[in-house]
Amino acid sequence: MGTWFGGVLGRLQPICPIESRLPPPEPEQIPLRTLQFKRGLLHELRKGNATKEQIRLHNLVQQLPRAIIIGVRKGGTRALLEMLNLHPAVVKASQEIHFFDNDQNYARGIDWYREKMPFSFPHQITIEKSPAYFITEEVPERIFKMNSSIKLLIIVREPTTRAVSDYTQVLEGKERKNKTYHKFEKLAIDSNTCEVNTKYKAVRTSIYTKHLERWLKYFPVEQFHIVDGDRLIADPLPELQLVERFLNLPSRISQYNLYFNATRGFYCLRFNIVFNKCLAGSKGRIHPDVDPLVVTKLQRFFHPFNQKFYQITGRTFNWP
Ligand code: A3P
Repeated sequence: MGTWFGGVLGRLQPICPIESRLPPPEPEQIPLRTLQFKRGLLHELRKGNATKEQIRLHNLVQQLPRAIIIGVRKGGTRALLEMLNLHPAVVKASQEIHFFDNDQNYARGIDWYREKMPFSFPHQITIEKSPAYFITEEVPERIFKMNSSIKLLIIVREPTTRAVSDYTQVLEGKERKNKTYHKFEKLAIDSNTCEVNTKYKAVRTSIYTKHLERWLKYFPVEQFHIVDGDRLIADPLPELQLVERFLNLPSRISQYNLYFNATRGFYCLRFNIVFNKCLAGSKGRIHPDVDPLVVTKLQRFFHPFNQKFYQITGRTFNWP
């Protein structure tokens, strides 16, 4: 533990609890045309159907993101991006761009990255999500070089659940290719020592504090906002309102935009009276049963790291 925290913790100060952050300034008026065009022209642009003339006429631009969902994989990154996109002042980059974590993409330069962004009105903010950013060594410095004041969103879930979700995704990929795969227990526990296997990526990714500390060498803690991924599943609106506040956006996402779909077992999105959607079936997989002793071992393992994570971020969870 000592080496992971080495140096960085010395200069870390716990920040004030998230609720006590200043409220955003009085809501600015979002131009009506934004609301009209969000599902019209911008939607057509996304599909590649708008003309150059329309782009020029409406002053549409491809902007670098002003906020990035940097992770955590299986934390609910897709749900968060799609839900934020309900806001009239937010435009999402639909695909994971993997600009900062993929050396080949990064070598293509910032204009390549910008060209991957959707068209938007100048006052809108573009958000992209690539969960691999959170755990990739080189990324914090690269993002810092692009924009040192960018806002960074991290969505987390209870670490053991997240690790099992991560495993389930890989397992499904193997099964699709008719390949066999180890049981979760075999991967998560080192059979020689009977201790938690910290070499297993799904375990390492869930040690949130370890990754966050690398980011804190570049960005102050105030530039991060931690989203509770478990609460985003159970009751998304309050989490989204905290994000609106963090992004200095007027509160525009409402209960109307979110409805619980009993068949799906999740909240789905309602844009307007005719357009609504649920996330794809690959979100919300059924997890395999895991030996309760292994679950307890993992929870005990994560516990001290979680405490450190709460201390640094000022956000506490009821994780075991
Ligand atoms: P599970 O498949 O383990 O249930 P990511 O988008 O980062 O890959 O995260 C996937 C997780 O998002 C899913 O994990 C699911 O639980 C969660 N999620 C949160 N809100 C959701 C929603 N409204 N619809 C579907 N999945 C949602």
